[in-house]
Amino acid sequence: MTGELSPIDKAKFVAAKRASEFVEPGMRVGLGTGSTAAWLVRCLGEKVRDDGLRFKGVPTSTRTAELARDVGIEVISLDEAKWLDLTIDGADEFDHELNLIKGGGGALLQEKIVATASDRMIVIADAAKRVEALGAFPLPVEVVPFGWQTTQALVEETLISMDVLGRESSLRMNGATPYVTDEGNHILDLHLQRIGNARQLALVINQMPGVVENGLFIDICDTVVIGYGDGRVVVKDINEGTEEEDRLDFVETDNLFADLD
Ligand code: 5RP
Repeated sequence: MTGELSPIDKAKFVAAKRASEFVEPGMRVGLGTGSTAAWLVRCLGEKVRDDGLRFKGVPTSTRTAELARDVGIEVISLDEAKWLDLTIDGADEFDHELNLIKGGGGALLQEKIVATASDRMIVIADAAKRVEALGAFPLPVEVVPFGWQTTQALVEETLISMDVLGRESSLRMNGATPYVTDEGNHILDLHLQRIGNARQLALVINQMPGVVENGLFIDICDTVVIGYGDGRVVVKDINEGTEEEDRLDFVETDNLFADLD
């Protein structure tokens, strides 16, 4: 029940709930990955069940696909959808230009492909994700397993000439073994502390052999919905130059909260 949710979970929930209002009947919608995106999927499932909302969802991970099906959302592949009206996803950090770091949940590749294939990307986040400069959160970089240590060395060497504070990297682990993405790749987390020129860094990293994709989302996000633990929600749109605040009441419904661990 919402009374037992932490302030951070309440913030994620209200951001997701507000963003679910952007989904209209007949839309093709990219569904993000992570704990905030999971709230969105639950909110949308409730709208499918209670309001008869019909739309098609394109998940960005096997986890999200499973949850979306569980809550009754019609799931299709990106190839079936071809192009999307909207993608709603979480983020690990966002700056004032709505550039992002994503991939904390390991799904950055599908997330970037899906968001880029959308007319509009909305990010849902608690207020702690807003930063002056990107980089305190380690930057995920998806690399192919073949020669990953050589790729790591190449990435670290390249960072010497980049505008960043830290240059260490680590292989993401899942217990005792390397983390494996939905595409069978590994993830290097770059501990950069502060990124001075995110646009340049994103381009340079992606030029390296062995790198599949990086977690910098530059000029992809259009809108951020920021949730607060007290129920306030701020919707900031970078294209319109608008920022609107309202407040959502927590409505406890058995359907929405029953499946929480
Ligand atoms: C997954 C992501 C997530 O959107 C990001 O890690 C935020 O997750 P959460 O909503 O759990 O804080 O990029 O790859």
